[in-house]
Amino acid sequence: MEENQMIVVTHGGAGSKNEYADGTLVAAERGMDSLRVGESVLDSVCFAVEVLEDDSRYNAGVGSAKRSDGSIIMDAACMDSANQFGAIAGMEGFKNPIWVARKVCGEEFRLLAGDGAGQFAKEHGFEPLQADEHRPADSGTSDTVGAVAFDGEKFSASLSTGGTGKSHPGRIGDVPLIGCGLYAGPYGAVAATGHGESIAMNLTAYRSYEMLKRGTKPQIVLKTVLGWFDDAVDIGLILVSRKGHAGGSNRTMAWSVATGEK
Ligand code: GLY
Repeated sequence: MEENQMIVVTHGGAGSKNEYADGTLVAAERGMDSLRVGESVLDSVCFAVEVLEDDSRYNAGVGSAKRSDGSIIMDAACMDSANQFGAIAGMEGFKNPIWVARKVCGEEFRLLAGDGAGQFAKEHGFEPLQADEHRPADSGTSDTVGAVAFDGEKFSASLSTGGTGKSHPGRIGDVPLIGCGLYAGPYGAVAATGHGESIAMNLTAYRSYEMLKRGTKPQIVLKTVLGWFDDAVDIGLILVSRKGHAGGSNRTMAWSVATGEK
């Protein structure tokens, strides 16, 4: 990819219907618009994920799945190749958790969980999720939304999820764990989706990034990584490096790309 080329890639989660790619395209274009006006590459993936959190067809934000006790618990994270990282885990009651994670990037801590994350969001004036706004995504949608971006110089990745529906209260998946659900470094960015425990136990995002760093093309990395997982395990990935981009899943997965020039 040329230094003057910019790209944002988004996904609607492993198991999201392919026809929901209209929403992932709007999200990718939103991220690209932000790059065009000079916002940071980290903000661009947060703007992209915000669009997906506001679209109830995906399991994040207003579309978050309910846990086994009926609670609505969200995880989100973002990272860039300048070593900025922020995440929230098990946070309840806010509409756009990705921006709370983004806010954490500027703090002396990297991950906030549970009531403390909610308190932080409240202190910083984030918009609560009203009960009448919550519309859990349909059963065809299973997982995390995400974005990766390249602004011609730096890379970034972001994820947001309502988690696995019916999971144990307090269960946290791969999303807020650095190197598991997402990773960004000077050689590329990766955002995963699917079964959180399997993604975490494989250090999926970091090991994918290491392949990008060795110069492996994103399409080959994608194929290799999908091969790590048993067919019964939901897994999807989007990646970008200077050699291009890729996206795919062993399930249906809405995903989209927006490109631009600097
Ligand atoms: N991949 C999201 C989760 O398992 O929580």
